[in-house]
Amino acid sequence: MSKTTRKVALVTGAGQGIGRGIALRLARDGMHVALVDLKEDKTRLVAEEVRALGVEAATFRADVSRREDVFAAVEHAEKALGGFDVMVNNAGIASVQSIEAATPEEVERIFKINVEGVLWGIQAAAAKFKARKQGGKIINAASIAGHEAFPLLGVYSATKFAVRALTQAAAKEFASAGITVNAYCPGVVGTDMWVEIDQRMAQITGAAIGETYDKFVGGIALGRAETPEDVAGLVSFLASPDADYMTGQAPLIDGGLVYR
Ligand SMILES: NC(=O)c1ccc[n+]([C@@H]2O[C@H](COP(=O)([O-])OP(=O)(O)OC[C@H]3O[C@@H](n4cnc5c(N)ncnc54)[C@H](O)[C@@H]3O)[C@@H](O)[C@H]2O)c1
Repeated sequence: MSKTTRKVALVTGAGQGIGRGIALRLARDGMHVALVDLKEDKTRLVAEEVRALGVEAATFRADVSRREDVFAAVEHAEKALGGFDVMVNNAGIASVQSIEAATPEEVERIFKINVEGVLWGIQAAAAKFKARKQGGKIINAASIAGHEAFPLLGVYSATKFAVRALTQAAAKEFASAGITVNAYCPGVVGTDMWVEIDQRMAQITGAAIGETYDKFVGGIALGRAETPEDVAGLVSFLASPDADYMTGQAPLIDGGLVYR
């Protein structure tokens, strides 16, 4: 297939973890993939893995909390890969802190990345789809924490509830333009993010290293932690024509942990 007949997807936070898993899955689905992250050395490695699957890859360094970076990333993806069809606003950070001890600096930082990053991603993708006079799919990273808050994860949860709000409003605003907007809500995925959450939980609660992670995983009905590939399966569906009639939703994929 030539590069113009394949769909083009952009994935933020694609250097590792869930974003890498999504990028590889969309490549396996036959899409060209633009890999965006703060860490370009890491996206270059993922790009090699993507190309090994027989599609094209492009890398771009961007901080998703900076609106101009996100718009530039979308421009770059279109120029490098010859189209623009799917935007996955995956980049995000964790914050582990009690409600009592949350600081303005910490709250501002995580909202800039997890909430503004998604908002700029939605804006940039929708503007590009409209300029190209086509529809498209926007897919945002929420979380189980976007459906239910947990102790010491209140501020993180607030950012993920906000992602669901943006997803719903954008779905309603862009439906008439043929643009769907959905989110995915993973549970406990064994990435670097959970290593950090577990360590911070240990510092604050006195739990042993690994204890908080094991406790969360112990609550999963299907009896194991989630993998990036588990998440990528849902994102693959949301990016596919099978999801054409779905918009404004934030389905959970968590092995049975939070039930909605
Ligand atoms: N790991 C989990 O259990 C879990 C569960 C639910 C939701 N999520 C969400 O999934 C997404 C990915 O999580 P992960 O576990 O793969 O995390 P991760 O920390 O392993 O990877 C995140 C990636 O995003 C990049 N990134 C961070 N800030 C950025 C910024 N400002 N601009 C551009 N890139 C940036 C990092 O460099 C990194 O490559 C996040 O939005 C997270 O909140 C994760």
